Order: sequence, then structure tokens, then C-alpha cells
Amino acid sequence: MDNWLPTLITATPTEGYELAVKMSRVAVKMTQGDAAMRDKLRPDYAENADSLIAVSDVVAHHFATVAAANNYWRD
Ligand code: HEM
Repeated sequence: MDNWLPTLITATPTEGYELAVKMSRVAVKMTQGDAAMRDKLRPDYAENADSLIAVSDVVAHHFATVAAANNYWRD
């Protein structure tokens, strides 16, 4: 996990959103280091609408940070 996030700067908003998804997933990996447990829990959220909305919310938070860091890709 060394230096897995070298920069928040991305070329496009699409890449920024992909980074936001990655940031969200890394948090899960850091808090649940057991891959077998993550595999076990995956169907729970994948098949639950409220969990998927919660996932979207987490990603939206990270995307707000990435977008701000990139000056909303205005430059
Ligand atoms: C797969 C995002 C939370 C376990 C995925 C994929 C995405 C994703 C986009 C599909 C990857 C692909 O098919 O290429 C997220 C986000 C999360 C989150 C944004 C939180 C905000 C969790 C949690 C767990 C989990 C809480 C379990 C503790 C997994 C596993 C897979 C997966 C095991 C792999 C499924 C497979 O290989 O088919 N996740 N996830 N994720 N997620 Fe999550």
C-alpha cells in the first residue's frame, strides 16, 4: 500500500471519478484486511439497494475532494 495515492490530480473528471472509487475501495481494504471476509461480505452489499446508495454516497464525498483538488477541471 506504499504511496498508493501519489496525486489527486487527474486529466479528466472521468479519471477523477475512477480515483474516487479507488479511494473508497482502499478504505474498505484497510479496515477489513481479510480478502476472504471481503469476498464473503460482497454479496450482502451487492444485492442491497440501500448499501449501493451508501456506496454512491462515499464515492461522492471522495469525488468532491478530487474535483476541488483539480479546480473542477476548469484550467
Ligand atoms: C467489487 C466498489 C465496498 C467487497 C467491487 C467493484 C466495485 C466496488 C466498483 C467491482 C469491481 C469490478 O468488477 O471490476 C466498492 C465501493 C465500496 C465498496 C466504492 C465502498 C464505498 C465494499 C465492501 C466490501 C467489498 C464493504 C466487503 C467488505 C468487494 C469484493 C469485490 C468488490 C470482494 C470483488 C467482487 C468480484 O471480484 O467479483 N467493489 N466496494 N466492497 N467489492 Fe466493493
